[in-house]
Amino acid sequence: ERVSLAGLHVLPGAIDVHVHFREPGMPQKEDWGTGSDAAAVGGVTTVFDMPNTVPPTDTVAHFELKKAAAEAKSIVDFGLYGLLGEHNLDHLEPLAEAGAIGFKLFLGNTTGDLPCPSDGAVLEGFEILAGLGLRCSIHAENSPILFWRQNRLKAAGRNDVLAHLAARTDVVAVEALNRACTLADWTGARIHIVHESSARSLPFIRFWKERGVDLTVETLPQYLYLSAEMMLAPGGEVLRMNPPIREAAQQEPLWAALADGTIDMIATDHAPHAVEEKYGDNVWNLACGFPGVETLVPLMLNAVANGRLSLERVAAITSAAPARAFGLYGRKGVIRVGADADFAVVDLTKRQRLTAAALHSRGKVSAYEGMEVRGGPVRTYVRGRLVAKDGEVVAERGWGAMVRPQMAAPAPRNLATTMKAILEPGQKPW
Ligand code: NCD
Ligand code: ZN
Ligand code: ZN
Repeated sequence: ERVSLAGLHVLPGAIDVHVHFREPGMPQKEDWGTGSDAAAVGGVTTVFDMPNTVPPTDTVAHFELKKAAAEAKSIVDFGLYGLLGEHNLDHLEPLAEAGAIGFKLFLGNTTGDLPCPSDGAVLEGFEILAGLGLRCSIHAENSPILFWRQNRLKAAGRNDVLAHLAARTDVVAVEALNRACTLADWTGARIHIVHESSARSLPFIRFWKERGVDLTVETLPQYLYLSAEMMLAPGGEVLRMNPPIREAAQQEPLWAALADGTIDMIATDHAPHAVEEKYGDNVWNLACGFPGVETLVPLMLNAVANGRLSLERVAAITSAAPARAFGLYGRKGVIRVGADADFAVVDLTKRQRLTAAALHSRGKVSAYEGMEVRGGPVRTYVRGRLVAKDGEVVAERGWGAMVRPQMAAPAPRNLATTMKAILEPGQKPW
């Protein structure tokens, strides 16, 4: 098929390193069909799925279960995270062999109620991952501080949105970020901070990068465009997510950090829920998170239209940086000419009003209801095949394939060799 690209641009296929496609286990929220349709229509050609599914992706058997579901239904390529938990340190190496794109560590409680590992278990886990070279993505909030504050607020009968915001203050993010970086510095593990929401973290991110920690950071469109103040309007509880969207004053520093490279990439934390799980009077009962994969590229192109980011920077933060961080660069993350290339054809002048009704995700909730954006994808190609065109899915189900990372072993850091010294060769410390 010959297509005129006059007046259009070609972008490398976006890689969203942070989605929750909910399968296996939560079909009422999403599955690999609806989730990957949303990605394709949005110009996203590769997604990395988080392990807080049912069952969680903590063993090779559970990994294979998810892989089979994704292979059957996904129309975009996908990487699958393994979980780093207190209970499954013995499973990290097998999960890496099975092809995990990286690992996910929850330092704060969130959807799925996966228990947060102790610092000791994190240290052990990082030692293993440092040897494997795979990156560990971290939900960086301090669970003990959070629980303590949440319990106090619940006991005080505070069931409103402000209570949620008060519990999840910046200190829980800054503390967990620095704890994770301390352990990464010690072990040489590569880490990635997901959903960075707080401008107060930025000086620490610069510090740890300068110190030589192999640290990458993502933020999300909702932290750039939306604010805690919006949550206080009627219906604003729908914006409830972890970590929370911060006050409007934090948007500018986050935009600047994304432009100057302090923040490496943009992801979505696509976290759909059934619509009725998102509304209600008692904030503690509401599901956290909302869809995002379909609106990522439009919102970033809108930032180009607004003069906030250059088109080159958008290509870097949506594609090249994620591909580099997770060992896909060259295969993904670049504009290539060829029959197996991932790219999106975008129209920088296209105007679009974002609505929940138009989403392909099953979680028909929009954080951006009614917002008009300029710029959007018109065609999406995954490994040379057209998968979406003008907002419609055209791919055959199951075209998506799993991607495996190619990561060189990191330079040894080994600030601590204590455990190694007291163990017999080959003996595991747990
Ligand atoms: C995510 C989900 O629903 O899986 N929710 C959220 O509020 N961000 C989990 C997560 O990313 O922590
Ligand atoms: Zn999270
Ligand atoms: Zn998430």
